[in-house]
Amino acid sequence: MFKLSTLAAAVFAASAVLSAQAGEVEVLHYWTSGGEAKSVAELKKIMQAQGHTWKDFAVAGGGGDNAATALKSRVVSGNPPAAAQIKGPAIQEWAAEGVLGNLDAVAKAEKWDSLLPKVVADVMKFKGNYVAAPVNVHRVNFVWANPEVLKKAGVAGMPKTYDEFFAAADKIKAAGLIPVAHGGQNWQDFTTFESVVLGVGGAKFYNDALVKLDAKAIGSDTMKKSLETFRKIKSYTDAAAPGRDWNLATAMVMQGKAGFQFMGDWAKGEFLAAGKVPGKDFLCAAAPGTSTAYTFNVDSFAMFKLKAGDAQKAQADLAGAIMSPAFQEVFNLNKGSIPVRLNMKMDKFDDCAKLSSKDFVDTAKTGSLVPSVAHGMAIKPAAEGAIKDVVSQFWNDDKVTVADAMKKIATAAATK
Ligand code: GAL
Repeated sequence: MFKLSTLAAAVFAASAVLSAQAGEVEVLHYWTSGGEAKSVAELKKIMQAQGHTWKDFAVAGGGGDNAATALKSRVVSGNPPAAAQIKGPAIQEWAAEGVLGNLDAVAKAEKWDSLLPKVVADVMKFKGNYVAAPVNVHRVNFVWANPEVLKKAGVAGMPKTYDEFFAAADKIKAAGLIPVAHGGQNWQDFTTFESVVLGVGGAKFYNDALVKLDAKAIGSDTMKKSLETFRKIKSYTDAAAPGRDWNLATAMVMQGKAGFQFMGDWAKGEFLAAGKVPGKDFLCAAAPGTSTAYTFNVDSFAMFKLKAGDAQKAQADLAGAIMSPAFQEVFNLNKGSIPVRLNMKMDKFDDCAKLSSKDFVDTAKTGSLVPSVAHGMAIKPAAEGAIKDVVSQFWNDDKVTVADAMKKIATAAATK
């Protein structure tokens, strides 16, 4: 009797402790493809192991446009999720609305300032306070290929220049296969476009034209050449490309229907989730002309102000979990990206990730580490959206001339 009541008391005490600490975290994200879902499941596991309840707020749609719309309506109605996948300059815009919480307690305790590259930490802060936690570094200027397709078509290896790329594409076409797997959605069009601009013009030109939005650069011969090259790539895509999701384009490469895909390294997460082996079943390389440059895309979760104490605790634990070495490793092994936390061991990572990690460090030194415009790292969302629309119109409609597109990009760049 005595023993039983002691046990009962202990159980009661334990559950009281758990319920005092445990809370719910509602997390808005757009990670719904095979590789993405596997990655985010790791975060859910960590939170559940700490006794918290994970409320999944997944909004399908690569690149996150649909998720951004869903987030706006929830915040406007005064009911924000605990965390939302927001990145780059959009973090500042949300923070300026006064709706984000302050993560300084956990950031100071865990020494985030010394664990993150300064450029990344600055993006996560608003007026000096942490409001978001970063999960990874994706490299956008990658091209993926099916080695069997290349072999069948008589292509010797990954193309390093656009001349080599178009020669390879011609061979794949002649072999009766689709040279380039593409999903015609404006963020995917721009993912290809920015890699072309980087490859044709180099990192300085990319920065001038797409980040600083310098009118001279936008009106230059280099931009003309970039648009011509971009349009030429389109002629190697299939008629069913419009509207296709990015992961379905990756599947075309995987299944040997297509040769190449221009896509960030979340595509690798897709190959891996399907059990494919890098270097054997699929190849990765920097997009033509971009091996000494790097377009980065850092995913992060911004945290919204919450009232309830248990919810705040769960939210702080989520931020802590995101930056933990264990999560940074397992998440990025699945996601295709590399850890954003500095000094992480890369021994479990494959060669594509090792290449990304090395190039990230090297390009930071040479000044050719540039923010991805397609993935919300570089410019204010309004101008980004307007420029993306112009580039997609150009891609979709051959009647839009290169000169027209250049003028329209310049106008779109001024969107406030
Ligand atoms: C990117 C995002 C990646 C990846 C991709 C496709 O913008 O940063 O994490 O998920 O979209 O949805």
